[in-house]
Amino acid sequence: AFNLKGRSYLKIADFSQREMLYLLDLARDLKRAKYARAEKPSLTGKNICLIFEKTSTRTRCAFEVAAYDQGANITYLDPSGSQIGHKESMKDTARVLGRMFDGIEFRGAGQDMVETLSDYAGVPVYNGLTDDWHPTQMLADMQTMIEHADKPRKDIVYAYSGDCRSNMGNSLLMLGAIMGCDVRMVSPKETQPHDDVRELAMERAEKTGARVTITDDTSAVEGADFIHTDVWVSMGEPKEVWAERIKLLSPYQVNMDLMKKTGNPSVKFMHCLPAFHNLETKVGQDIHEQFGISEMEVTEQVFESDMNIAFEQAENRMHTIKAILVATLGA
Ligand code: CP
Ligand code: NVA
Repeated sequence: AFNLKGRSYLKIADFSQREMLYLLDLARDLKRAKYARAEKPSLTGKNICLIFEKTSTRTRCAFEVAAYDQGANITYLDPSGSQIGHKESMKDTARVLGRMFDGIEFRGAGQDMVETLSDYAGVPVYNGLTDDWHPTQMLADMQTMIEHADKPRKDIVYAYSGDCRSNMGNSLLMLGAIMGCDVRMVSPKETQPHDDVRELAMERAEKTGARVTITDDTSAVEGADFIHTDVWVSMGEPKEVWAERIKLLSPYQVNMDLMKKTGNPSVKFMHCLPAFHNLETKVGQDIHEQFGISEMEVTEQVFESDMNIAFEQAENRMHTIKAILVATLGA
């Protein structure tokens, strides 16, 4: 077996392909054990701190349920519930929490914050989303694609259409490069990945045999097994960017036409969620009032179709986060 004990997970590049495969195997075993009611707790008595400086449904719940299933305790610090940043530096916070907890999850804006936390806490730190990366999401996305693909992992073709410069864009680009897949990032020039992320991905791709395409041409989705997307404006971005993003990204909306362009009748739709596909949310209504649109990165028609596997993807957040906790903190 692999020994990942004591390791942090701060960005998608932190784990090698072999380490990712080990975590994916472990996640599959843990998922099967839970379904068979045969799960064996290996985190009994461990204490895990969850810090959320941005809101969350999936990531928080995945960490909590995974920890409880494995016998660990959790402490949740909500976006207003700690001294971090306004009254106490991350460096000091890290040295306090590291003495109380066995592991710490952090969601916030700055990648530098989660790095500082990891540098000074002395215990494993997990990035639950920053402006740059969403690493725990990537294990769930890979697990979901492997579960659905009728082909070896390295033959998987997936495309991402939308804001490719976000935490999800960066992460899905790197994921494909690390796992040796065929990944197509489809986005207008203005929202394509930055050079440093591209270079990182190309370096990995060369070693793994991954095929990486970055283009503004939506016909690049041809042959894809999966189409991913994400919101056009991420948490923490100013509301002034909405108008421009809507203009830039509307041609990249995931709709039936785009799904058909794959030429693959069994193509699946994926989204880390939350998704904007109707007017059932307050944000949706606000955007509708201001810009007159009622669906954004994905249409209601695609979202409510059998193509959508985003809820399985959401469930897999829990199994894969459990694998990370067990591998890095387990007995
Ligand atoms: N996908 C994801 O991270 O969802 P939450 O923001 O609800 O945690
Ligand atoms: N890109 C999105 C992902 C949410 C899980 C955001 O950062 O808001």
